[in-house]
Amino acid sequence: MPLVFLVLGLIVFQIVIRVWLRLSPQAIPFGWSWLLENPWRKQYRNPKRTADQCLIKPSDTVLEIGCGSGLFTRALAGRCKHLIVQDIEPRYLAQTRSKTEDLPHLEFLAVDVCELELYGVADVIVLISVLPEIRMPVKALEQCLKALKPGGHIVISQELFEPEYVTSQQTDAWAKAAGLKAIGREGNTWVYLNRYARF
Ligand SMILES: C[S@@+](CC[C@H](N)C(=O)[O-])C[C@H]1O[C@@H](n2cnc3c(N)ncnc32)[C@H](O)[C@@H]1O
Repeated sequence: MPLVFLVLGLIVFQIVIRVWLRLSPQAIPFGWSWLLENPWRKQYRNPKRTADQCLIKPSDTVLEIGCGSGLFTRALAGRCKHLIVQDIEPRYLAQTRSKTEDLPHLEFLAVDVCELELYGVADVIVLISVLPEIRMPVKALEQCLKALKPGGHIVISQELFEPEYVTSQQTDAWAKAAGLKAIGREGNTWVYLNRYARF
């Protein structure tokens, strides 16, 4: 019987937190790297496999939006010529920088993606578990579009594990509103990865 109450309590907690974050999106607090880097997540969200799905070419400049603790940064860096690593939280950025000090082709940018001032610099832009944390996701994607080179693509990936999770259809709707069209999809409801290009 206590187990039933525990499970019910967890379900109710999940529903409440998800509704609250949907109504009031906010960035994950600093210090939650343990959640981003838990071994289970690394299994279903293998960084190398995820980076492969981004379809990066060795000559590419890549922009990683919302690097967090840097779980994917090294794998992305290993596939491109130049990597711009961005996050709104300078302490996450510092954490990622400390893990990648041996890599010479990385650049770090502490800025809100909605205030990004990059124009035509990136062949590939990657947003992993970031977009629903942003109050203005369409504005964020519009800024990404400005940073994208002609012919480039934007990768957006979400997972059900994150409390801010939105469906692939919701991501499509935000992308369309920002002037993007879907050009590829991988995964399932648990973890999906969509690729978009300029309309
Ligand atoms: C859930 S974490 C994901 C981190 C990493 N991409 C991963 O999947 O492990 C979301 C990250 O997006 C960053 N973020 C949230 N809002 C942002 C914004 N407006 N501009 C840039 N980064 C933002 C947060 O600081 C956090 O590091």
